[in-house]
Amino acid sequence: MEKARNAGSIAPHVFWHTRQVTQETRHRQMGQRAATVWLTGLSGAGKSTMACALESRLVGAGHLAYVLDGDNMRHHLNCDLGFSPSDRQENIRRTAEVARLMNDAGLIVICAFISPLSRDREMARQIIGAHNFIETYISTPCTVCEERDPKGLYKKARAGVIQEFTGISAPYEEPLAPTLALDTSRLSQEESCERLFQHLSQRFV
Ligand code: ADX
Repeated sequence: MEKARNAGSIAPHVFWHTRQVTQETRHRQMGQRAATVWLTGLSGAGKSTMACALESRLVGAGHLAYVLDGDNMRHHLNCDLGFSPSDRQENIRRTAEVARLMNDAGLIVICAFISPLSRDREMARQIIGAHNFIETYISTPCTVCEERDPKGLYKKARAGVIQEFTGISAPYEEPLAPTLALDTSRLSQEESCERLFQHLSQRFV
């Protein structure tokens, strides 16, 4: 039976309603066990491209998958957040809560977020649950990301137009022990996507 997480509501008189559908029923019905593939790396590293390629690959193979992308989430649910450390943390917290719910519903979720700080990725792992959290470091070097500069943001960051830009004027802490590390300047998109797909295939039931 589903249990309440100790999520700590500030409202005193709230209750947790348990449901009847079990995870086992969902797994059987959907032919998959849920997971969150958490893609972390610099802007321009290839996270969003990878996320969409993996989503297509999974959906094409008959699975239920959905991308949560940092830029897109910031247009709606997280439109009130900027890039200060506390706003980035809240961006990750909300997203991890959404991913957890989607996992609970049985979906494979692919999150593409810079998520530069280890402590925030750790928080995401805690919220989602370590058994469902697949940390994937898109390890494309900063020099390559800056050369690519697909949105012209590195140029603006160098010119001081954008403050607190990750890799230039704000830190990026590399994951120390990611499940997978993929450098898109060395691997083709197909190869990277296939590695992730193969890793996930353990969850196809
Ligand atoms: S995170 O740090 O909070 O995880 P997120 O992945 O949601 O970041 O958003 C990153 C995207 O926002 C980048 O790909 C880039 O397009 C845009 N962006 C705008 N300002 C910044 C900034 N100061 N630092 C990093 N990315 C920025």
